[in-house]
Amino acid sequence: MAAAAEHTARERDAMRRAIALAARGLGSTSPNPVVGCVVLDALGRVAGEGWHRRAGGPHAEVDALAAAGDAARGGTALVTLEPCDHTGRTGPCSRALIDAGVARVVYAVADPDPAAHGGAATLAAAGIDVEGGLLAAEAAEVNEAWLTSVRLGRPHVRWKYAATLDGRTAAADGTSRWITSAEARADVHRLRAEADAVLVGSGTARADDPHLAVRDIPDAVQPLRVVADTEATAVKPGARILDDAAPTLIAVAADLPDGATAHLDGHAEVLRVPRAASGRGLDIAALLVALHERGVRSVLLEGGSTLAGAFVAARAVDRVTAYLAPALLGAGPAALADAGITTITDALRLDVTGIERIGPDLRIDAVPAPAPVASAAPAVPETEEF
Ligand SMILES: NC(=O)c1ccc[n+]([C@@H]2O[C@H](COP(=O)([O-])OP(=O)(O)OC[C@H]3O[C@@H](n4cnc5c(N)ncnc54)[C@H](OP(=O)(O)O)[C@@H]3O)[C@@H](O)[C@H]2O)c1
Repeated sequence: MAAAAEHTARERDAMRRAIALAARGLGSTSPNPVVGCVVLDALGRVAGEGWHRRAGGPHAEVDALAAAGDAARGGTALVTLEPCDHTGRTGPCSRALIDAGVARVVYAVADPDPAAHGGAATLAAAGIDVEGGLLAAEAAEVNEAWLTSVRLGRPHVRWKYAATLDGRTAAADGTSRWITSAEARADVHRLRAEADAVLVGSGTARADDPHLAVRDIPDAVQPLRVVADTEATAVKPGARILDDAAPTLIAVAADLPDGATAHLDGHAEVLRVPRAASGRGLDIAALLVALHERGVRSVLLEGGSTLAGAFVAARAVDRVTAYLAPALLGAGPAALADAGITTITDALRLDVTGIERIGPDLRIDAVPAPAPVASAAPAVPETEEF
């Protein structure tokens, strides 16, 4: 009994380590998931570690098995995602695990991708002891973007903004540099490095001439810089976003005349997207599907408030990351513009998943709360009590 309990504790430790290894791949594996793997030898000692570093490169299991060598025989592989069962750019991981002679495979999250799942069944059919679900919630969190994209057929969207404590993103005269500290701004570069694409609206492109590339993070894979510029008038030649620090895509209305984007030729890719059926700008769902089709699995939406409002209205915000500075302005634009919400019962309720102090500022992470279950009790109108 004691040996079994010890073994389980080692497996939990190894899975925790595998999750940390998986996180190292954030930002460089799309369209693949991030995956980590730890191989324990037959005595439960760590024999090899690996993670999926980039799309087209070895999968985590193959990486860890290579590090373990013969020590994998009779051992246990801990993997954050169910081993794949299909031959893509690399061979199936189920096969690699069988060939390495592991006796047991423990994975955290079942693979929801219909093209890749089935690995657990293949392993079990080969006589390997297979178990799923260990630390599944933690492992799912690190793969939140990829899992969302498989489930919804569009990229995961994290809306990030910086505001004063009273929710202003700029002063009344338009000045906004800088609301938050250098530490908070450095943290945003980490978010950019983890995202496949960074997106802003034409209003931000006009007002700020943003660069949107990752700075000061060694070996970061640069995200695709995207501007929702319906009329192709906001991003002009010489704009900082058109430099060669990272690829750039300008999303414009599908019905623009051919010559309307000539000034972008050779500087940025142009993506034509249908206009929104009602309201201004581009159709958000169509924009996201088009990005998904080009391999984008995670989008960092960096504003401004008008575009963020359209995303909230389209129910296309999966995570909010707010940087709140301990400062007050009292006037100036709010973090979020019209999101089609007019009454308190329709407020988009969020569950806070993390609160962190970053320098003098606060970082709050939150995800949309699950829709409340309808109550059988009759609705009674309520007012706030003071
Ligand atoms: N503190 C922060 O975190 C932060 C972050 C970013 C920006 N900002 C500030 O925010 C200000 C700019 O914000 P903004 O609200 O004016 O502009 P914005 O949200 O960046 O861009 C809005 C524009 O995007 C275009 N668009 C394309 N598709 C759209 C859609 N489906 N729905 C709505 N708009 C769509 C529209 O113009 P077209 O249709 O004409 O293209 C719209 O006017 C700047 O002052 C900037 O400094 C602050």
